[in-house]
Amino acid sequence: MDIEKGTYPHFMLKEVDEQPFVIRKIIQEYQDEDDRIKLDPEVREAMKECDRIYIIAAGTSYHAGLVGKQFLEKISGIPTEVHVASEFSYNMPLLSEKPLFVFISQSGETADSRSVLVQTKKLGHPALTLTNVPGSTLSREADYTLHLHAGPEIAVASTKAYTAQIAVLAILAVDTARAKGIELEFDPMQELGIAANAMEALTDQKEELENLTREYLSTTRNCFFIGRSIDHYVGVEGALKLKEISYIQAEGFAGGELKHGTIALIEEGTPVIALATQESVSPSIRGNVQEVEARGANTLTISMKGIEEEGDEFAIPKVHDLLTPLATVIPLQLIAYYAALHRDCDVDKPRNLAKSVTVE
Ligand code: G6P
Repeated sequence: MDIEKGTYPHFMLKEVDEQPFVIRKIIQEYQDEDDRIKLDPEVREAMKECDRIYIIAAGTSYHAGLVGKQFLEKISGIPTEVHVASEFSYNMPLLSEKPLFVFISQSGETADSRSVLVQTKKLGHPALTLTNVPGSTLSREADYTLHLHAGPEIAVASTKAYTAQIAVLAILAVDTARAKGIELEFDPMQELGIAANAMEALTDQKEELENLTREYLSTTRNCFFIGRSIDHYVGVEGALKLKEISYIQAEGFAGGELKHGTIALIEEGTPVIALATQESVSPSIRGNVQEVEARGANTLTISMKGIEEEGDEFAIPKVHDLLTPLATVIPLQLIAYYAALHRDCDVDKPRNLAKSVTVE
């Protein structure tokens, strides 16, 4: 099947815009006529039975895993570790008695993840793959698969697969909580619907985001992303997006780590993108913004409606605290896109990178 860009100049921009529709599709696919979560009963059982989850992934999928850990621990109460696939065999953790391996992979073909799957299967442990390609190697070789329903992703920089992974992980966490009899105070499908609407509103703010990109990133050679709690994990994804396609050296840091090294790199005009969508840590991250500003940084604060403060450059619409990554990542993807565009980079096919890395 040939996938067309249609009226879009790049696949990446098309895929960014598709994200709200992907989330709505996921809601539809994972819900039955009675509005209950529709999930393979074997997956439900495996999730209920395990005593610890080991998420294995690479690149953007690893970043989705970092967000997923928050869901699995905070919503379903299952201890969860997240591992970079290529490092797993060197530093194999001591496994619990009933581990469940969860592989997150857009393509389902990443060689490093596959090699972990081969290893854990030999040990006889169950595996679940979350992938956008159901017939892929990781999907065939794992015991269970959950489909991301994101549609083909063509641009090398992953966008809609990331948000799809987060949405499916949220549904999985909620389903597991319910299966274990944990009472939840929110309706996940309704909250995902609200997040999808927020994402759609954000994709309509391209002009504003292009202007911010021009203002902050037009001449810079580096850029830092800071955040705390779940914002930190979105920050590392924002940095990855920016470096992969615009070649600006970008790093994401936990706000509290700044003073342990990174702050030494802040000079007059250094761009720092601060994510401040979590009310619980707002004073601390805002403190970090002041610290870098005092050293000359050019800060761009992205907060959330309802908790925004005067002077914030951008605010995402209000969404459930745990689902903010679905919305926060959109301005970061668009900032990366415009930064690459303004530098005449090949947005969809950045140098040295492959869509799926099938060698270890
Ligand atoms: C490559 C791609 C990334 C992707 C990573 C993991 O590096 O360029 O966009 O996140 O592989 O791929 P996967 O298909 O396993 O999610």
